[in-house]
Amino acid sequence: MLKLLSYLRPYWVASLLAPLLMVLEVSMDLMQPRLMASIVDQGVMQGDLAHVGRSGLLMLLCALLGLVGGVGCTVYSSKAAVAFSSDLRRDLFAATQAFSFGNLERIGTASLITRLGSDVAQLQQFVMMLLRVFVRAPLLVLGSMAMAVGISPALALILLAVVPPLFGVLYLLIRWSVPLFAQVQQKLDAVNLVLRENLAGIRVVKAFVGGERERQRFDAANADYAGAAIRAWHIVTLNVPLLTFALNCAIVAVLWFGGLRVEAGSLSAGELVAFINYATMILSSLTSIGMLLMNYSRARVAAERVNAVFAERPEIVAPAQPQQPELQAVAERGCGPEICFDRVTFRYPGALRPALDALTLTVPAGATVALFGSVGAGKSALLGLVPRFYDADEGALRLAGMDLRRLDPAWLRGQIGYVQQETVLFSGSVRDNIRYASPAADAAAVEAAARAAQAHDFILRLPQGYDTVLGQRGADLSGGQRQRLAIARALLPRPPILILDDATSAVDLATEARILGGIKALLPQATCLMVAQRAAAALAADFVVVLEQGRILAQGSHAGLMSTSAAYREIHRGQAALEKVFHD
Ligand SMILES: Nc1ncnc2c1ncn2[C@@H]1O[C@H](COP(=O)(O)OP(=O)(O)O)[C@@H](O)[C@H]1O
Ligand SMILES: [Mg+2]
Repeated sequence: MLKLLSYLRPYWVASLLAPLLMVLEVSMDLMQPRLMASIVDQGVMQGDLAHVGRSGLLMLLCALLGLVGGVGCTVYSSKAAVAFSSDLRRDLFAATQAFSFGNLERIGTASLITRLGSDVAQLQQFVMMLLRVFVRAPLLVLGSMAMAVGISPALALILLAVVPPLFGVLYLLIRWSVPLFAQVQQKLDAVNLVLRENLAGIRVVKAFVGGERERQRFDAANADYAGAAIRAWHIVTLNVPLLTFALNCAIVAVLWFGGLRVEAGSLSAGELVAFINYATMILSSLTSIGMLLMNYSRARVAAERVNAVFAERPEIVAPAQPQQPELQAVAERGCGPEICFDRVTFRYPGALRPALDALTLTVPAGATVALFGSVGAGKSALLGLVPRFYDADEGALRLAGMDLRRLDPAWLRGQIGYVQQETVLFSGSVRDNIRYASPAADAAAVEAAARAAQAHDFILRLPQGYDTVLGQRGADLSGGQRQRLAIARALLPRPPILILDDATSAVDLATEARILGGIKALLPQATCLMVAQRAAAALAADFVVVLEQGRILAQGSHAGLMSTSAAYREIHRGQAALEKVFHD
């Protein structure tokens, strides 16, 4: 928590002014009952109207000064708190950008969203209270106590007897509530997870009329969240009636013993009224302290969750002395480097079976390899190791003979044009989507990339051509159109390494062949790894690799494998047979 509070440092002026102005308000508040007592005792009781007027004016002045303090404190504390949370969110976002997939899977994207949203808001609220109530309430308690003692030490004993045990009770309530609030935030994560999955898969939900089931799933998570929140709030809000009851008892006692003293003449009526006022101030301050402590227990939970994000070390980071100049030379000649998998074993975090099992494969400089294999064979896993989305558990990957771990990942990724199996586009224009990796590219370059990806023609048919604005995730395009935009995006920087993960699965055979031809023409010397399903890719590649259960089953040319590998023949026979079925 303290670590996070250092985010207030740049706003130290506001963070200092706020409590100072609060001190002004509190001192003015503390004056009021005293002034009132003097109006009652000297003005009303002795008929001194001038005194009533003077003291009344003084009270008004105090009230005004108090107002200035109160408003000032609100202004500065909200300024500091909002700036605090804004900076915190900024740094959290920056931290998540450095995360590797392993980090993201560990925390969970839904939870990250709660942490940047709800948890930071919790902390903001706490900072606000810290700058206001944290000063106000204890000052009021101590000040009122001092004033009460000044009026009548004997009566103040009653308050002294009540306040400390109340603090004890408050402390216990807070201790109980901290773990409950931790649960509340976890349940909120769960609610967000359902919501996120639902929105991301809304087409599936609608297509399979899953709305009702989704609603039930959401209701369950939501009810769970509400239940946890209610349990936590029950405990916390218990402090208000408890405090009220205890202090009402104290006031009755004060009235009783105070009344006796007034009768005996050792206390004036005005003083008794002032004393009761101070007692009430203590009551309301204790309630605010209760709220502050409650806020603190929630903020502590939030701080832990936020700090966990900061504590998460990106798994894949640049080495202290990244090596790259030699490779740079490779890239500058426009020729892709050799990529070598040396006995690579890789397991997804938490997976039982390795996705790649002691796999050895060399893709020569500038060569194109087509990977075939059934679903789950490890094709995407193999591709994902090249830009270091994950690191191999055993063995090594080498680029032009250099271990990937000796390279700066950002530089490495800059050398790679990657088309993912699942196309992701962003809201924005077609042009901006294609230019994602090289925002400065000119219109001619964008068009060349689009032409190679066979996207140019359909883009021109869009309402505003290249300036057509896509909806969220490119929802208004067909799957094949989105794939072609993703390919154009990967081609635009003319990367020396190209990776296509089933990038043409949603286009027809003829278009697939044209795309492969376009890529070859645009980047004749790139080293290219592609996952494919149809013969066109095998024919366009220099050689073919068949994967099964994370191992290489067969390797060779299309023609060679057709004659030597039964598994490979099976892949293509299946397709030919299917096409026959559909044609007949
Ligand atoms: N994020 C993941 N976490 C755990 N296991 C995964 C993950 N992605 C894929 N796998 C598993 O790893 C294996 C290889 O997957 P993948 O490389 O995606 O196969 P392919 O692309 O050939 O269909 C499969 O058994 C799959 O279930
Ligand atoms: Mg895959």
